[in-house]
Amino acid sequence: METQPLHDDMEQVLFSTEQIQERITALGVQIRQDYAGKEPHLVTILKGSIPFIADLMRAVDVPMTLDFLGVSSYAGTQSSGEVRLTKDLDDDIEGRHVLVVEDIIDTGLTLSYVLRNLRQRMPASVKVVTFLDKPSGRGTQIEADYVGFTIPGGFVVGYGLDWNQRYRNLPYVGILKREVYAGPF
Ligand code: PRP
Repeated sequence: METQPLHDDMEQVLFSTEQIQERITALGVQIRQDYAGKEPHLVTILKGSIPFIADLMRAVDVPMTLDFLGVSSYAGTQSSGEVRLTKDLDDDIEGRHVLVVEDIIDTGLTLSYVLRNLRQRMPASVKVVTFLDKPSGRGTQIEADYVGFTIPGGFVVGYGLDWNQRYRNLPYVGILKREVYAGPF
C-alpha cells in the first residue's frame, strides 16, 4: 500500500516548532513562579499530551513528580460524548498540588470528567495547563489556568494531536486538509 507523505496532508502550519518552544518556555516561567515551594504533581492526560509534557516538564525548574491518566473519547473527528478511563494513576494524589496537563480543550467533556474524578481523591489543589484551547468548541463552562495557544475552529493535528491515531509525530501544529478527514466528496 502506498502511503502519503505526512506533510502533504496539511492545509496550513498553525504553530511552528520554534513558536511552540518559545511559548512553552514562557509557560514554564509562569508555572515555576506559581508553584515555588509547592512541589507540583503533574497528571498528564494520555496520549495527546506526551510531546507537551516532555517539553513542559523541562521548562519548569522546580522539584515535581509525574503521573499519567489514560482517557479517551474521540473516534475520528467527533467526540463520542462518552469518556472512558483507559489507565488509572499509579500514585495517590491526596494532599498533593495537582497540575493536570492536557493537549487540547475542545468540548470540555474530557476535562470535566477528569476534574470530577481527581477531586474525589482529595488533592490539596487542582489546576490545569493546556497546550491548546479551542473555546468555539465548548459545550460546558470550563477553563484552564494556563493556556499555550488559543485556536479557532478547524481540525488541528501534530505535536501529539491525532486524527485516527495519526499525525501525532509532526513537530508542529497544523490544520488538516478537509478532504483527508471528510473524503473527496
Ligand atoms: C483528545 C485530547 C483531549 C480531548 C479534548 O483526547 O487529548 O483529552 O480530546 O477534547 P474535548 O474537550 O472535546 O473532550 P482523545 O480522546 O482524542 O485521546 P488522545 O489524547 O489519546 O488522542
